[in-house]
Amino acid sequence: MTADLNTDLNADLNVKTTGGAKSATTSAAVAAEPEAGSISPASTGPAYAIEVDHIVKKYGDFTAVDNVSFFVKEGEIFGLLGPNGAGKSTLIRMMTTLIPITAGHARIAGHDVAKEPDAVRRTIGVIPQALTSDLDLTVEENMNIYAKLYDVPAKDRKRSVGELLELVDLTKWRDAQTKTLSGGMRRRLEIARGLVHHPKIFFLDEPTTGLDPVSRVAVWEMLGNIMNQRQLTILITTHYMDEADRLCNRIAIVDHGKLVALDTPMALKASVPGSNVIEAQFEKFPPDWEQRLHTLDDVTSIQHEGAGMYRVLTGNGSRTTTELVEMAVQAGVQVKSLSVQNTTLDDVFVHYTGRQLRDELVKAHGFVMPPRPGMQP
Ligand SMILES: Nc1ncnc2c1ncn2[C@@H]1O[C@H](COP(=O)(O)OP(=O)(O)OP(=O)(O)O)[C@@H](O)[C@H]1O
Ligand SMILES: [Mg+2]
Repeated sequence: MTADLNTDLNADLNVKTTGGAKSATTSAAVAAEPEAGSISPASTGPAYAIEVDHIVKKYGDFTAVDNVSFFVKEGEIFGLLGPNGAGKSTLIRMMTTLIPITAGHARIAGHDVAKEPDAVRRTIGVIPQALTSDLDLTVEENMNIYAKLYDVPAKDRKRSVGELLELVDLTKWRDAQTKTLSGGMRRRLEIARGLVHHPKIFFLDEPTTGLDPVSRVAVWEMLGNIMNQRQLTILITTHYMDEADRLCNRIAIVDHGKLVALDTPMALKASVPGSNVIEAQFEKFPPDWEQRLHTLDDVTSIQHEGAGMYRVLTGNGSRTTTELVEMAVQAGVQVKSLSVQNTTLDDVFVHYTGRQLRDELVKAHGFVMPPRPGMQP
């Protein structure tokens, strides 16, 4: 991810950082479209790998995806975040031709998903949320089956499979049965398998959910390597805010089927009122201390967490901290502890969805890792 790319994207898409109010966010999502009326960017502006235009999915009376629009530029890593049931997988399934679209349009590499599904399928690689590799086959056999399905010519197959296994660090496991792999290794195999036909656009639905932190890092590192070696656009869903923050050029937050925010991670964090959080604990403070804290410059909200501990959200952490300490000294109030942090994407998520993603994670059904009966080559 580069700052240039982000700036470029913002300029292209006219994405505005919102003032933080929920209602204003929707306008950020709407502003994420190319200029009004130019639904076909190919004819006017930059190349878009993915164009999602007022897309809707209904299951009977239930609307799983509700009028969502966004555009992903070639070469971008685009993150789709949302609580369980938000509609992320449904969006991916529509974009990848797996389920019909109720209303609206999606175009992948310029091909209409509803009208040219075969052309779309040739362009994309898809890693679904559930693990799908065949446990009774070897790593190489799983790769070969996909290569044959996608008509990769026999003469290229061996080389392509070899290169991909190298890329995901599974070369020495190529003859191992898939059931002997750990969850992280199996994910890596599935990512390699999804690339066997040289797709241009790669959809990954929660590739790291259920993995331990080391395996998660390995998967992301591998995706970084793949991005360096191949010209790819990636659309990825994840439950891990830190991953999305570090690796995605832009992030869309969906909730109850609607797009509630879309921007670069940095702009999203800046859109939450108060870009820093000061946590301070005081002793011997006067009864009107909270009101006094409100008078400090840039403070947007204050929560008293008990035992003299205050959580102060501010737009300027260093200035508010300096003023806060000066005010405490003058008032004879003792500062027992003080910490200043940047707003995280977790704060962004809470702001736009009213929920902690972590709470949702507890309820997440996730997949269960297969047992690993030993066998180490
Ligand atoms: N085939 C279906 N029939 C009816 N409702 C469905 C169907 N598939 C999904 N839904 C509903 O649509 C909503 C969105 O589901 P989806 O799987 O897209 O959510 P998600 O954001 O991927 O969630 P998770 O984080 O749990 O994977 C959910 O309320 C789900 O119950
Ligand atoms: Mg899902």
